[in-house]
Amino acid sequence: MRQVHITTFGCQMNEKDSQTIARIMASYDYQVTEKVEQADLILVNTCSIRQKAEEKTYSLLGRLKQLKNSNPGLIIGVGGCVAQQEGKRLLERVPHLDLVFGTRLIHQLPDLIEKVRRERSRLSRTEMDPGEPYLNPLPAVPGFFQGVKASVTIMQGCNNYCAYCVVPLVRGPEESRPSQDILSEVKTLAANGVRETLLLGQNVNSFGQNRMGEISFALLLHRLKKIPGLERIRFTTSHPKDLSAELINCFGRIANLCEHIHLPVQSGSNRILRKMNRYYTRETYLEKIVQLREGCPGLAITSDVIVGFPGETDADFEETMDLIRTVQYDDLFSFKYSNRPKTPASNFPDPVPEEEKSRRLNELQAYQKKVTLSKHQAMEGTVQQVLVEGTSKKTTQDWMGRTRTNKIVNFPGPSDLLGKTVPVRIEKAYVHSLKGSLE
Ligand code: SAH
Ligand code: SF4
Ligand code: F3S
Repeated sequence: MRQVHITTFGCQMNEKDSQTIARIMASYDYQVTEKVEQADLILVNTCSIRQKAEEKTYSLLGRLKQLKNSNPGLIIGVGGCVAQQEGKRLLERVPHLDLVFGTRLIHQLPDLIEKVRRERSRLSRTEMDPGEPYLNPLPAVPGFFQGVKASVTIMQGCNNYCAYCVVPLVRGPEESRPSQDILSEVKTLAANGVRETLLLGQNVNSFGQNRMGEISFALLLHRLKKIPGLERIRFTTSHPKDLSAELINCFGRIANLCEHIHLPVQSGSNRILRKMNRYYTRETYLEKIVQLREGCPGLAITSDVIVGFPGETDADFEETMDLIRTVQYDDLFSFKYSNRPKTPASNFPDPVPEEEKSRRLNELQAYQKKVTLSKHQAMEGTVQQVLVEGTSKKTTQDWMGRTRTNKIVNFPGPSDLLGKTVPVRIEKAYVHSLKGSLE
């Protein structure tokens, strides 16, 4: 069997795409290898959300040059968001690269690789045909479903055009997958031992809107709740403007829907939100947070924030800090604004100096660290239902699992706990995890 090595950068959607790629290549007699030196085919699934993410691709490709020199038969291919963005330019910039394939062409990979191999040619394909079978269920490979958790893509692309964001440009327009396909995929997963599913899309709240007669996202959750064996459902990401009352009502009512929502706010300043094209205000956002907590008091809420968007003043940033202090998030992912090619914001005036961005980021992160820790400390002494996912990162003698609110818990226990949900008493809180013992 031939060996393929896959490296993945970027978000959960890219992770999922890489799993799909592995599955497709498996049906063409390629076996996934962790050892890059043993590979006949190296694929890099790339991210271009910020400049730093994009740079990772170039430095990895630089390091692969040696392998190509010592093994001329080796094929190196780049897919994902940098591939879509750069296309042929990537082939020009990286002479030892054989193949560039766009975000909507992963089903054509075996053919493209065969073509490169047969013709010894270099190829770049980045067209974005609608109707590409990306969304269709994949041929089943016996024994492929493994693990406790599985991600399921429910839609691709994005129509929101937030001013800073490259995703609509590199992932194309929003398309939902038929709910019947999603339901049957999740049923198969659950029947094969998967206990938790993560539904993926750039904006799951608008699921079904572009497909005639399709059910809403909230209704999809109601259908999924009936699947036997499926203990936990999570989803990401939600755009605040599309968070409906119907969806807010699902929390606390659907037994297997976990008490956690990731609701990216990006900024607390209405002036900046308008420039970002976000279509909500801090007031409507905060109102939704109140409604979510009223319907489900224990709900964990996390968010994304960008600091230093063009034109962001001290006063705008202070409004963001004020919003964060008001909400008291369980956790925050915060980023310095990064200028992305061809996005509307790429030629906005008044860029914020790099040092100022760093200062704001540090202030925000220092504050959030305290909030996260104190939320974790408040859990000390409580008993949590933990779904065991694997062994702890620090010591393989401990199990690692998550609470329904998505907090990581490490604890010692017997050897047969994988995939089980067990009660764990929380003993010690850290910023990134909790330590406990079996009840
Ligand atoms: N679809 C998701 C976000 C995907 S990108 C959503 O709408 O929430 C993940 C996060 O990266 C975004 O929420 C944003 O905070 C950040 N991000 C996106 N573009 C960025 C840029 N140009 N500079 C800095 N951060 C960015
Ligand atoms: Fe980017 Fe906005 Fe779409 Fe999220 S909703 S992927 S931030 S354009
Ligand atoms: Fe990155 Fe593309 Fe995801 S830009 S964040 S890998 S959609």
